[in-house]
Amino acid sequence: MDLTRIGVSIPSDLLNKFDKIIEQRGYSSRSEGIRDAIRSYILHYEWMSNIEGERIGIISSLYDHHKHGLSEELTAIQHKYIDIINSSIHIHIDKNLCIEVTIAKGDGKRIKKMAEDIMAQKGVEQVRLITIATTNNDTCLKNQTNMR
Ligand code: NI
Repeated sequence: MDLTRIGVSIPSDLLNKFDKIIEQRGYSSRSEGIRDAIRSYILHYEWMSNIEGERIGIISSLYDHHKHGLSEELTAIQHKYIDIINSSIHIHIDKNLCIEVTIAKGDGKRIKKMAEDIMAQKGVEQVRLITIATTNNDTCLKNQTNMR
């Protein structure tokens, strides 16, 4: 295996979380865990690139509603995609966190774009996207992924 050494700067709280996970999962080294994470990232990107055609999309976003301007930004995104959004549900998780679940129906690429727009907002901690093809001529009938 041809290995290249890289130097990466990572916030310490993020690295601590990562180290805990790789310890729990029994990785032999941090490098092995990072290689695996990069593979998952690439797989995820490739999967995202394949979302097309008519889809039903379920997007859940976890965010801190205290983050300045974030709620307004997320509302603006909902208005931008009003042509494909069927429904959205807001759940207050605790004093800070909220989950917004949005159900959309329409072009897969546009559903994906909406998920990416949400993901790009600072203060959004996690976005999950599930898509279901509405026609049978798609090999990728059902898919689920973690975006952040
Ligand atoms: Ni809330």
